[in-house]
Amino acid sequence: MSDIMETILSRRSVRRYQEKDIPDDILNKLLEAARWAPSWANAQPLEVVVVKDKSIKERIQKTVSPRNPSTLAIVNAPVLLVICGQLKKSGYYNEQYPTKFGDWFMYDLGLATQNLCLAAHDSGLGTVIVGLFDHDRVGEVIKLPADHEVLVLVPLGYPDQEPKPPKRRGRNEFVHYDTF
Ligand SMILES: Cc1cc2nc3c(=O)[nH]c(=O)nc-3n(C[C@H](O)[C@H](O)[C@H](O)COP(=O)(O)O)c2cc1C
Repeated sequence: MSDIMETILSRRSVRRYQEKDIPDDILNKLLEAARWAPSWANAQPLEVVVVKDKSIKERIQKTVSPRNPSTLAIVNAPVLLVICGQLKKSGYYNEQYPTKFGDWFMYDLGLATQNLCLAAHDSGLGTVIVGLFDHDRVGEVIKLPADHEVLVLVPLGYPDQEPKPPKRRGRNEFVHYDTF
């Protein structure tokens, strides 16, 4: 296992993959990393659809604009994960959402997705989180039940590129001490 800071800092969004399958034990390890992410009151709204079938990947690809830099990755990756969430679980009590932000499923799924992407990178795999597509059409393709939403797509495969790190804001640009 590598140093966590090294894993966090060297992870990049990977959009080109080798034609090499992912062994089931590695895939299961990544799903395990997602499983152990924290969630609101341990609500665990996460649902994951593991897509390997090329025709299903192609139908999902049609919901992504050709201008999206990850459109090809949707089909070329050996595995496409569809990250979904069940509504009315996270941040929901007594049939009400007690905070101004409503349903917290996006937050919980974000944490689980990042756990998965970091574990993937630690295992020599590349991922990219894809959020810009027609969510309802993907829901139809994967036969999503009511009270659930598709949030992001995560193509997964052995990297065929080593992208340069996009710039980040400096720490002094976003960290505030004592008051904003
Ligand atoms: C919520 C979310 C949605 C994203 N959607 C897309 C997308 O639709 N297409 C794409 O190519 N990259 C997408 N990305 C990847 C970002 O562009 C990428 O993380 C960012 O440029 C930083 O690069 P890095 O991941 O290599 O550090 C998304 C990332 C996040 C967190």
